[in-house]
Formats: sequence, structure tokens, C-alpha cells
Amino acid sequence: MTLIRMGSSIKIGKTLRNFCTTSSSSFARKIGLDTPDDITAGQQMIMTFRERVENRRNEAKRSVIVQVQSEKSAADLYNYCSEYGTIESMHHYCLNEQSHFILVEFKAVSAMEILLNQCCHLNESHIIPTRTPFLWFRSKSPRRKQARTGESDVPILKHQYGTAIPTDKDIKNLLQGAKSLSEQINVLYSATHLNDVGERLRFLTARQIEIALCGPFPNVKALPFGSSVNGFGRMGCDLDIVLQLDTDDSHEKWEDCRLVFQAKTSSPNGRASSQRLMETVGDMCQLFLPGVTGVKRILQARVPIVKFQQDLTGIECDLSASNAFAVQMSELLYILGSHDVRVRPLVFAIRAWARYVGLTNPVPGRWITNFSLVLMVLYFLQQRSPPILPALDKLSMSSPALNLNHLDARPARSPIVGSAHEGISAEQDNRVETVGILFTEFLAFYSSFDFNNLAINLLTSANTIKPEHSPLYIVNPLEPNLNVSKNVGSEEVAKLRIELRNSAWLLESADVTSTSDKSVPWGLLTFFRENHHISKEQKSFAPPVSKRRRVSINKLFLEETR
Ligand code: UTP
Ligand code: MG
Repeated sequence: MTLIRMGSSIKIGKTLRNFCTTSSSSFARKIGLDTPDDITAGQQMIMTFRERVENRRNEAKRSVIVQVQSEKSAADLYNYCSEYGTIESMHHYCLNEQSHFILVEFKAVSAMEILLNQCCHLNESHIIPTRTPFLWFRSKSPRRKQARTGESDVPILKHQYGTAIPTDKDIKNLLQGAKSLSEQINVLYSATHLNDVGERLRFLTARQIEIALCGPFPNVKALPFGSSVNGFGRMGCDLDIVLQLDTDDSHEKWEDCRLVFQAKTSSPNGRASSQRLMETVGDMCQLFLPGVTGVKRILQARVPIVKFQQDLTGIECDLSASNAFAVQMSELLYILGSHDVRVRPLVFAIRAWARYVGLTNPVPGRWITNFSLVLMVLYFLQQRSPPILPALDKLSMSSPALNLNHLDARPARSPIVGSAHEGISAEQDNRVETVGILFTEFLAFYSSFDFNNLAINLLTSANTIKPEHSPLYIVNPLEPNLNVSKNVGSEEVAKLRIELRNSAWLLESADVTSTSDKSVPWGLLTFFRENHHISKEQKSFAPPVSKRRRVSINKLFLEETR
């Protein structure tokens, strides 16, 4: 397997490390950016989408999440779990001051299976005895205490406080310390993109659903899609999951098979059976799965979904079943995001800008979504001369869905990745537009975009006339007859145009480089406004875990608190 290092990511890591050691080291420690591991995490290896997803799924199959009294329990937990097999890594995170967790990844699935077979249920009434990889680490029993002697092994916690989300104040401080608009954008991306622990927790959250369904459906897959896997995920973003009940579609293999499963038939009305399935899955999650709370069934939507919180990972989830192109869309966005190192930082900057100026809102409504903004950025990059991203029609695709098979090749190395790899950064290479320039050009491009008549269409480099009069029309590249931004109202488009023009003007008139006077906002800081919306990520970050519990956690940790 050939792996390519993204040169400029190394640069981002260094920039942030320098900054962290000077200006905001406690914050950097909190978000886990000051360890050598995290600096190298910035130097992301490029894998294909499918390799990445498979890796994460395999990690999840070898991992458990253990609630502990504090990060200080790590050594004890390490020694205890090591008895069942070799531990590959341990990651700490906490959801609030009282709830600490350690994700333990074993080297082999068998070790985790042995460990789960040795776990017990609390000897209390009203316990539903489900077996999932979400555990407590309770204090030692007196018998075990006597049996064990010295505990010398010290685990290396790969991450401490692994899911801490930077607040707007933290981000402001980081941006203030940067030297140019491009550096601000790169710093913003480094500090806020979904990190290793964030991805692991998302795949474990999906794994819990799989485990719950694998009795009747042994080949079931609960696949994360959307921002959790498409490379545009922000720390604390929600988790979109699509269920595939039987993924073994090798029909040729079945032809010689004489033994056939007895099975019930589903309703011929696909939608009705999907609604029924989601209703049942929702009930099952609500009744049986530890950590799952706030289950809402939204069965009348175009795609029926079940929403819930997983309180043990701190993640909000949207679960669906009949979402045909869900994973393909994520793969497409992942490929386009890997095509050039500026794509993802630029998307983060545009989404942050939209949030700061109040164009996006965590509550669903008539406003523009993050997904639509991503497509707008990608379209803009296709329209550059020379194009930074290819129009998708250049990639010989079959209609109506893109045939992603030929795209499944390793993401392309852009000239910039190549040059940065050889030690020349995009900034130094004056033939290349910096991400800061692209940010300003994005504002200019859409300031003069003919939203009244034109659609945003990634499938062709030619202008596309809107097929109907939605105020904003963004063609869904996988289902071209659908408008991704159908929800957006005309007042929101008017607001978008005003904000684009205002912001382009503000950037032109304000400084785009750091000034010695720290009170003067410059670059991205120009757009920070007081009282803008609280982000969904920040809202959902600290669920009141302990209040929802029936079992008293203090009781479990009693021994250790003494
Ligand atoms: P989301 O609205 O959850 O967006 O849709 P997101 O990309 O995950 O971004 P955030 O972080 O939650 O705001 C999830 C995915 O569903 C697909 C896209 O793949 C999107 O990433 N989707 C969404 C569509 O295919 N069409 C749509 O109209 C909306
Ligand atoms: Mg999402």
C-alpha cells in the first residue's frame, strides 16, 4: 500500500506547535495538540476512502470504552486489561468534570472477546443485561486486591482530554496569534477538525448498533457517513449512520447454493417497510442500548430517520436505512477534499465565516446547511482558472449515479502536495494561490454569482440554468434531479448575498495580516460577532450523563475515592 504524506499538513502541525508553546499551551494540552503523537496526526496519511473506513471499523471491533473515575485510573485499567491480551492504544476523554472514559484498543479482536466474556452485570434489579463494548471499571474487590501485588506498567495514554472542543474564545486566541489570513485558516483547520479520538468514538457508536442487530442480521453494517467520514468533520459534529442489513450481495456465489434461508417478506411498499424498520430499531436502541437517550423517530421525512444521543461518547446521531447514496456522497467529498491540500482548510474557513455571520444555524430550518456550503466551495474551486478541482463530467461517469469505481483510486496528488512534499510550501510558491487568497476570491465569486438564474452544478463546467425557481439551487451530484438546498428560503439567499458583499468589502478594507495592536480584529477575526449562534457542537458537548443514570456511579468508584 503506497501512502503519501501531505507535506503542508506537516507545516500546519509545526505552526500550531510553535504557537501552542508560546500563547495557549493549556488550551493546546486540553485539545491534545502538544504531544508528538498529535503533531504527527496532523501529518495525515492519505488512504482511499474505503481503506480509511475499513481501518476505523476494524479498530472499533477491537475496542472497548470504559468509564473510569479519572484519567489516573489508566495504569490500573491497563494492567487489568493486559491480562486479556496485548493493548494497542489507550485514549482518554471526558464529557464533563465527573465523567471520564478510556477507550482501550486491543491488538486482536479475540482479546476483546475474551474480555467481554469476563465482564459481569451489576447485581441490581432493573438491569437489562445487554452485552456491548461500553463498560465501567469499578473499584477492586477485597479478594482481588489481596491477590495482586505491584502494578508497575504505566500505560501511554495516546490522547488526554481527547474530545475537548475549542470554544470560540480559544479559537479567537489561536487566530490572533497567526501571522497571515492563510495561517489563520490553517490553524483553524488544525484546531477544529475531527481528531483521531473523535473518529474512533464515532465508529464505536456505530458498532454498538451493529452488535445489537447482528443476531438476526449477521452481515449488518452500520456505516458512518456525512461529516464524520468525508474529511470535512469538525470536532463535535453529529454522526450520520446508514444501516445496511445484508451486505453480502455476491449473487453468483448463491447460484449453486441449495440451502436457502427461510425468511419473511417485507412490505412491497419500500417506504412503509423502511418506516417500520426504523421504528423498531428506534425502540430497540431506546430500550436496550446503554448510553442511548433522547430517541426521536422522524418517520415521515423523505428518508425516515431515528435521532438519538449516545451519552457515553457525547455524540448526537441520525440513523437511517434507505439512504441509497449516503456513503457514495461521503466518498465523493472525501476524494475531492484529498485532491488539493487547500480544499479542507478553505471549507472550514467558509463554514466558520458562515457561522460567525449568522448564515448557518444548528437548528434545521430555511437556512443554508454545512453540506450545501461544502458543495459551494467545491464548485468555486472547479471554476478557478486553471481549475483547482476537475468538473465531475471530466471523469467519465455513468448517469444517474456517479460511478465511483474509477474514482476509488488513491486520491490524486495535487501539484501543491507534491511541491510541499519537496519542501516548498504553497505560500512560498508564488505561482500558487494561497488558501487566504482563495477565501477572499470565494467571497468575490459568489458576490457576483447570478443566484436568480443559475444553479451550482459540480457535474459540468458549463453554466447550468436553474430547472425551477428555488431561491438557491445546488444540484445533487449523485441524484441530479434533486436540489440539495431546497430548504433555503429567499430571505436567506438575500442575506447570503449581503453577507458575501459585506465580508468581501470588510476584508478588502481591514488588515489581512497580523497587526501589533491586538485589539484590532483582522482576517477571520473581522467576522466574529457577539451573541452569534451557539454551535451545535458546543451545545451537544456535555450531556448531563449522570442525571440520566439509574445506577449510582459513585458507588462503583467508592473504593478509589477513599
Ligand atoms: P448532514 O446534513 O448531516 O451534513 O448530512 P454533514 O455533511 O454531515 O455536515 P454536518 O457536520 O452534520 O453539518 C449528512 C450527509 O448526507 C448527505 C451528504 O453526504 C451529507 O454529508 N446529504 C445530505 C445528501 O446526500 N443530500 C442532502 O440533501 C443532504
Ligand atoms: Mg452530519
